[in-house]
Amino acid sequence: MSSLVGQQFEVVVGAVAHGGFCVARHEGRAIFVRHSLPGEKVVVEITEGDVDSRYLRADAVKVVQASPDRVDSRCSVAGPGGCGGCDWQHVSMDGQRRLKASVIEEQLKRLAGLDRRIEVLEVPGSPDGLHWRTRMKFTVDADARAGLRRSRSHEVIALDDCPISHPKVLEAGIFETTWPGAEAIVVAAPTGPTVETNETSVLVEYTNGQKFQALGPATLVNDAAGRLWRSRVDGFWQVHPAAAQTLVDAIAKAAQPRPSDVVWDLYAGVGLFAGALAGHVSDVVAVETDASACRDAERNLKDLKNVQVVAARVDRWLKANGGELNGPDVVVLDPPRKGAGASVVDLISASKPRVVVYVACDPAALARDVALFAAKGYSLQDLTAFDLFPMTHHIECVAVFRPV
Ligand SMILES: C[S@@+](CC[C@H](N)C(=O)[O-])C[C@H]1O[C@@H](n2cnc3c(N)ncnc32)[C@H](O)[C@@H]1O
Repeated sequence: MSSLVGQQFEVVVGAVAHGGFCVARHEGRAIFVRHSLPGEKVVVEITEGDVDSRYLRADAVKVVQASPDRVDSRCSVAGPGGCGGCDWQHVSMDGQRRLKASVIEEQLKRLAGLDRRIEVLEVPGSPDGLHWRTRMKFTVDADARAGLRRSRSHEVIALDDCPISHPKVLEAGIFETTWPGAEAIVVAAPTGPTVETNETSVLVEYTNGQKFQALGPATLVNDAAGRLWRSRVDGFWQVHPAAAQTLVDAIAKAAQPRPSDVVWDLYAGVGLFAGALAGHVSDVVAVETDASACRDAERNLKDLKNVQVVAARVDRWLKANGGELNGPDVVVLDPPRKGAGASVVDLISASKPRVVVYVACDPAALARDVALFAAKGYSLQDLTAFDLFPMTHHIECVAVFRPV
């Protein structure tokens, strides 16, 4: 097959698509163009595809006619051929949020048949979209320097800065040294109003499978919703400093908890949503599969006698126990990127909650699950989107379902 990689030509860029690129057409074929914006005229260079490919991938390498949303990148390694970490460094903050809103609208239309106007809300703490990421996993190049991978490549770009990393992550100094034998450097800083002086943690993961805590504690203590939360440096905790509080507030607003309510917090992590709701309801069951997250959840929630932490896969737990337990009044779910899927949606719907609050980090998986919930009699009542991952194509949504 004859590769088209390296070929250049001019295109007019069309709509944004899910994944951090826009779609252009050339000689009947779709081209997924990174580093471009809708309406722009750009010269693209093909990065993937051959004469027989149904679609091509490309970078915009020259802007002939720029969008009003275009700005200078704030990162020296973002851009064509550069780091794969950020998608929208070349876009104004308002422009990024409009792109993300279009992506959610398009996914809801295509996968759930819904016409919705979506607004992506700014969160406090990073008005310029920089210095917000409190958890980073850097990889290591052949010279043992920490960096990030080139877009759609295994090649590592060694870094001396990463402008979306939180200052406490950068202060750990991981770019100022080398990491012989290491595969990844995990850096995490605690979040929340009372923990500003806490130490940052650095965990080194070696190619031989060993791990070494190079700096700070293995377990961080974060502050949100008026409580402290232990989370491991290599475990899950919300990344943006404003995320935990923003999501807790959005869930409480959506769930409207009542003192007699039974709540299920599915995919519970270290218990953030379970703990935040516990004081307002009768009982909470928090279901989480990761053993160390469950241990942290047990510790985080041990003073809350009405919370039970269950170490199990959500689908298995629902299948095994859902029918026998008292039906929940409120179900909160925060699944990983692939979403909940048909079996979990069916079992949640069958348990007949008053309200389902779905925290989603992938709009395509969410839109698919919106359609699944609708088929089971739960319609999408509200969807709030938060810009918790500036400069990247990622978005966090809080969707609210009630029985039709
Ligand atoms: C996006 S995180 C949410 C954590 C928590 N809600 C928070 O905000 O801190 C998803 C969590 O789901 C857990 N998880 C992934 N698949 C699971 C499954 N099938 N059953 C239960 N938990 C799962 C992961 O270990 C992770 O802690």
